[in-house]
Parts: sequence; structure tokens; C-alpha cells
Amino acid sequence: MNGGVGSCTGIRAAQLADIPDLLALEAEFPTDRLTRAHWRHLLTRGHGLALVFTLEDAVVGNVVLFFRKNSSLARVYSLVVKATQRGKGVARQLMEAAQAEVYQRGLQGLLLEVRVDNVAAQALYARLGYHLERRLHGFYADGSDALRLSKRLVPDRLGAQGLEAAVT
Ligand SMILES: CC(C)(COP(=O)(O)OP(=O)(O)OC[C@H]1O[C@@H](n2cnc3c(N)ncnc32)[C@H](O)[C@@H]1OP(=O)(O)O)[C@@H](O)C(=O)NCCC(=O)NCCS
Repeated sequence: MNGGVGSCTGIRAAQLADIPDLLALEAEFPTDRLTRAHWRHLLTRGHGLALVFTLEDAVVGNVVLFFRKNSSLARVYSLVVKATQRGKGVARQLMEAAQAEVYQRGLQGLLLEVRVDNVAAQALYARLGYHLERRLHGFYADGSDALRLSKRLVPDRLGAQGLEAAVT
């Protein structure tokens, strides 16, 4: 794997033993957080998936996906990269791995919410091809607005027109 963070890196599914690292990571981002109990539920029997990016065995980033029955879209619930490891492609690689997982599960795409003032995350998602669905007023606990973004994953054999027909 490349991305400028050295050779001893990798993306894998999170495990129970990662919970202390995951709690520490989430604490770096001031928004709705997963508690220890939430993480335990997610990693044992929740309808979700957490991927971690490790650098020399240390967890430096994570992405959490939720899957809903009767929905063809996965929801990106959380994405965080350790402050000292930002700007090196960690989030991009985590999101690409998440997208590959969603595609493999036969789902049609992903949706997520991002704070209106989160310039870095919005730039990341734009670069990855996410589109604005709508603004959600007062979405966060502190009253801040969110932007809802989505990305459709296109099976190559369908092409752009085929995708539109498949998801609308
Ligand atoms: C947003 C966040 C996940 C980005 O992680 P990262 O590993 O630094 O991002 P990457 O290095 O993979 O950047 C990929 C692309 O995103 C964009 N990007 C990332 N950080 C950016 C910044 N600070 N300013 C502008 N663009 C940025 C760039 O387009 C970048 O591509 P480039 O380097 O080729 O130009 C990270 O800043 C973070 O953890 N922030 C706090 C938590 C958060 O906001 N999560 C998102 C919640 S919706």
C-alpha cells in the first residue's frame, strides 16, 4: 500500500482489542462520539463495519459504516485520522477501502453527513466524487448544520447511463 506513511501500513477490520485506540482517535474530533459500549456492540453484533488504518501496529485512522435493512446505500458514520498523520492519504485510502467493501456487498453507494464548516472533509469527499444531496439544518447536537453527500458506485458494465437507470 502506498500513500506516504511508510511501508509498515495496512487497512483491516477493527477488533475488540482496538477499542482503546478507537476511543482515543474519536476524542480528537469534537462531534457525536461512539462510546466504549457502542464500539463493543458494533464490533460484535452491530449492522456495521469499522476499518482501521494501522501504522507500525498503531491505529492512526478509522472509518465506520452502517448498513440498513431495505437500503441500497451504506452510511459513513465516522471517519477520523490521527492529527499527526493527516495530509498523507490515510483518509482517502480508508474511504476507498470502505467503498470497495460496499461494492462487494452489492450495495449501490454511500451517503454521509459533514459539518458545513468542515473544509478538509468536504475537500476529501469532493475529491472522491461525492455529490451534495441537501443541507440538513440543526443536524448536530450543538445545532450546527450538516451537508448530506452521496456517491453512487458504478458497475463498469453499466456505464453512466446504466447507473442512472439502476439507482433512480
Ligand atoms: C478530514 C480528515 C479525515 C482527512 O484525513 P487525511 O488523512 O488528512 O486526508 P487525506 O490525506 O487522505 O486527504 C485526501 C484529500 O482530501 C483533501 N483534504 C484533506 N485534508 C485537507 C485539508 N486540511 N484542506 C484541504 N483539503 C484537504 C485533499 O483533496 C486531499 O487530497 P490531496 O492531498 O491529494 O490534495 C481529517 O482531517 C480528520 O480526521 N479530521 C477530523 C475528523 C473529521 O473531520 N472527519 C470527517 C467527518 S465527516
